[in-house]
Order: sequence, then structure tokens, then C-alpha cells
Amino acid sequence: MVSARRGTLRLLRALMLGAVVVPAALFAYVAWVSWGSIVQLTDDRLVRSLDVLHEQALKVLTTGNLVLDEIVESVENATPDQITAREGELHRRLKRVADLLPQVQSIWVIDRDGYALANSYFVPAPRGASLADRDFFRAQIDRDVGTYVSSVYTPRLIEGPSFFSMSRRLNGPNGSFQGVASVSMLPGDFEKFYREIARSPGEVFALMREDGAFLARWPAGPLADTKLPAASRFFGEIARAPQRGLYSGVSRIDGVERRVGYRRIEGFPVYVVASVEAASIRAEWLAGLRGHLVFGLPATLLLLWVLWVAHQRTASLYAEAMRREAAETALRQAQRLEAVGRLTGGVAHDFNNLLMVISGSADRLRRLVDGEKESRLVEMITTAAKRGETLTRQLLSFSRQQAVSPQSIDLAQRMPELSELIRRSLADDVEVVIDVPGRVCPVKVDPSEFEVAVLNICVNARDAMPKGGRLVVRVRDAVLDEEGENGLAGAFVSLSFIDTGTGIPEELLPRVFEPFFTTKETAKGTGLGLSQVYGFARQAGGDVRITSRVGEGTRVTLWLPWVAFEPAAVAEAPQEPATRSA
Ligand SMILES: Nc1ncnc2c1ncn2[C@@H]1O[C@H](COP(=O)(O)OP(=O)(O)O)[C@@H](O)[C@H]1O
Ligand SMILES: [Mg+2]
Repeated sequence: MVSARRGTLRLLRALMLGAVVVPAALFAYVAWVSWGSIVQLTDDRLVRSLDVLHEQALKVLTTGNLVLDEIVESVENATPDQITAREGELHRRLKRVADLLPQVQSIWVIDRDGYALANSYFVPAPRGASLADRDFFRAQIDRDVGTYVSSVYTPRLIEGPSFFSMSRRLNGPNGSFQGVASVSMLPGDFEKFYREIARSPGEVFALMREDGAFLARWPAGPLADTKLPAASRFFGEIARAPQRGLYSGVSRIDGVERRVGYRRIEGFPVYVVASVEAASIRAEWLAGLRGHLVFGLPATLLLLWVLWVAHQRTASLYAEAMRREAAETALRQAQRLEAVGRLTGGVAHDFNNLLMVISGSADRLRRLVDGEKESRLVEMITTAAKRGETLTRQLLSFSRQQAVSPQSIDLAQRMPELSELIRRSLADDVEVVIDVPGRVCPVKVDPSEFEVAVLNICVNARDAMPKGGRLVVRVRDAVLDEEGENGLAGAFVSLSFIDTGTGIPEELLPRVFEPFFTTKETAKGTGLGLSQVYGFARQAGGDVRITSRVGEGTRVTLWLPWVAFEPAAVAEAPQEPATRSA
């Protein structure tokens, strides 16, 4: 019955645990799967963006290349003077091309010293400053590097927005350096395009040289002299996979974590780069998860709550049933002891009367006989009658028909005084601990009956601890209500004897107070010790309880009513324990 109840409660607790663990595990699984698919989705989007960026950049750069082809063809092998002579015609031609292509800012023909010979803007070309320090010029001096893509500059000879150049070497006879042709491209045109295709705020698009110099970027920012730091992960990635790739990393520029995709533009040392902030990927993921939580969490909580309520109800129901069963058992036991008490009391009473007649007659007989043998016989009658009287006294004390003379004693003081008696009743290898509170614990009992009861309990503890152990004697005061373990109500003093002995099997516990119940061999036990303790406690208006665990020990507790000290008994006024109710 008890184990079935425990099983039910355990099942409910397991269900509660399951109601948390199973949804949590499912949620974790869903979160993991959806993280995977979000990452996949992000990569797909990046790749699609890169396709578009690549398409556009390739078109623009290829156009620039065609324009360069055109210029080189028309000015190659011409001397600077010849070019200057044709400047007007050249200008018109360049201007026509530049006007046709929105991404082209201007087109220039530059001589070997870096001065403009012709351009798409003005005739005559501005010659106020040399462009010999620009990289699109310097790169071509030593040898023909084909089409060179420069970094971003602010214009020097004209007013206008920043630009980057595509340049080509102008070769003189036998490959000598004659200057460069250059097409200035507008990053702004790229940015406009990037803005159009950007979908979410976390996205960054860029056109970048393989050395990390930015040519165009969205969201737009200053480009002249902006370059990826040398430690950027980008360089490691393009060294491994020069054509295209995807990676995650923390930006060396703004410290933001991003998922980055890149793709090299066919035929140019230039990449398109698309990236999205990791935070916005996570935000998208979390938004998805919130959707799951909105449904899952309330259902889980509801289930948990229902199980919890069921558990609490069941537990309190079981506790109630257990209390009732315990009370019923205690009542039954008390009733049985009561009946046995009445029976033994009656028999002992009559027996006592008979014994008194026997011992009285023996006394008189002793005076009448004088032979030694006869005297011995009378002596034996007297001794036997005395033993019989002791026995009947014990029985009478169990049935509470013993005449008693109660006195107030303070157990907090009395128990330390009895410690010597307790120690002597136990074996030497038993440690005795007397534990009393610092305030008075007065009870009203018959002192000699009380001592007998203490001895009876101690002797049992001794028998239970043949190999030594420990006996704790503890005094406490307590207020009990009827709901409590004993069905006693009011202020009480408890006196517990806790040993570390063999313990009592559960099935024997209800019987230990019965007179003549013993588990000991005939010479050692009479079975009357605990009966006396029981009778004593009941007669004093209290009760006795015994709890035990086989192999661990036994606790015998006497509950005796707390009584106000009679003024004569102590010098000082009684101190009421704090717990005592009015
Ligand atoms: N402290 C104890 N430890 C183990 N068993 C005990 C203890 N006290 C009582 N018992 C059990 O209860 C029985 C009854 O005790 P009691 O009435 O004193 O009779 P007796 O000691 O003569 O056997 C004992 O035989 C013993 O089995
Ligand atoms: Mg005993």
C-alpha cells in the first residue's frame, strides 16, 4: 500500500520532469535544425547577391577595357606633339564615349611625365599639376602590366567626386614608356546599384582590389585611402580559394561579426564582396524560435501546472491517509494494552492479596518454629512470596493500579543527576550523552517509578548494544496539538533515549509494550520492562513512543505533561518555556 503510494507520487514527479525535459529537448532540436537552415539560407542569399554584383562589375570593367582599347589604338605610336596637335579631335571623341557611359567620369591621355595631353572634359586639358605620383601611372612605367585598376582618389585637376582609374600603358617605338591612357570610374555609380539590391540593414556590399583597397562600398563611406587591414581574414581566404568563397569572421574595421562571401571578377585583380551581420542572422533565427515558444511554452507550463497540482493533491491525500492509519494503529494498540492491563491488574490484585496472606502467615510461622530445617523452609516461603510481590507490583504498575505519590521534578536538572545511574546500568563501551535545555522542564511523576522506568529503558539499550555504542538522553519541551504524532495536546516535556543498538523489526514494534513480551532468553528478559514504562507514562498523564530501525538503533520517547512548579519545590519562580501556550 505504502509502496504503491510512493510509486504513484514518483510517477507524477517523473511525468513532471518529462513535461519539462521532452519539450525542452524537442525545442533544442528544432532550434538546432533551424539554425542550420538559417545559415544555409544566408549563404544562398549571399551567393545570389554575389552573382548579381559580379555581373554588374564585370560589365563595367569590361566596358572600361574596351574604352582603353579604343584610346590606345588611336594614340599609340603618336608623339606628344602629334597628340597635342590633335587634341580637339581627340577630346570630342573621348567626350562622346564618356557621355555614353554613366559609370565613366572622365577619360585621359597622359604623357610620360604625368601631364595631361588630352581629356574628355576640356580643351586644352588642364596641365597645372603632374599625375606622376598616382598608382595608375607609376604601375605602368617599368613595364606593360596590361589593364591596371587603381585605388580611389580625390580629383586634382578638376572639380568632381572621388574616382578610381583603369589605366593602360602607351608604348613608344621599341617598347619605351610614352605615358598612360586612363578611364576614371565613379564609385558612386556602383553604390547606387548596391543600394538598389540591398535587402536588409545588416548587408554590406563592396568592390575591392585583391590588396584590400575599397573601390566602392554600400553602405557608402569615404573610400580614398580605405583599405582592409593586413590581418583581415579575407586575405587568408582568397589565398586558399582565389575564385570564390564564404566565411564568418569579425571585421577588423568595425569589430562586427559577419558572414562574408566573395567572388573574383574574371580577368581583373578585383573582388565583389557581400556580407551580412551575424547579429541579424541570429535575430532572424530567434524570431523563428519565438514563434515556436509562443505555442510550446504555455502548453508546457499548463501541463506542468496540472501535474504539479495533481502531485500536491495526491501527496496531501496520502499524508492524510497515513496519519489516519497511524492514529488507528495507535488507538488499537492502546486499547489492547488497556484490556491486557485490566486483566493483569485484576489477577495481580487478587494474587497480591494471596501473597500477603502467605507472607503474613510465614512471618507468624517463623516465630513459632525453632528447628533449623523448619526455619529454612519458612525462609524459602518468605523469599518466594517476596519475589511474587515484586512481580505483582510490576504488573500493577503496568495496569496503573499501583499507588503512586507524584512530585514535581525538573527533568533539565534531574537527568544530569541520574547520569551516574544511567552510566552504571550500561556497559563501559557505551558513550552516554545527556542533552538538556537551559530552562526548566518540570513534570509531575512518582520519583521512584520514574527511576525504574529510566533504568528499564537503559537496560534495554544495554542489551541492544552488546558491542558498545552511544546512548543520547535528550530533554526538550514542546507544545503539541491533537494533530501531532501522539494525539496528545498541550504543553509537554519529552524525554528521549536514543541508542545505536540492533533495533527492533517493524512487525515486533507494536508488541513491545505488552507484558511478558520479550525476545530475550528466559534468564535475561521478563518482558515487563517496557510494560512498566508504559504504565508509568500513562499514569503520569503522558505517553510513550518507540521508533526503531533495524541495524541503526532505537528511540524511546516519554511525553510527560509540563506542570507549573509548586512554589515549595524550588526557591526561584518557575520560568515558563517560550513555547508554552496560555
Ligand atoms: N533499545 C532497544 N533496542 C532493541 N530492542 C529493544 C529495545 N528495547 C526493547 N526492545 C525489545 O523489546 C522487547 C521488550 O522489552 P522489555 O519489555 O524491556 O522486555 P525485556 O527487556 O525483558 O525483553 C525486548 O525483548 C526487545 O526485543
Ligand atoms: Mg527490558
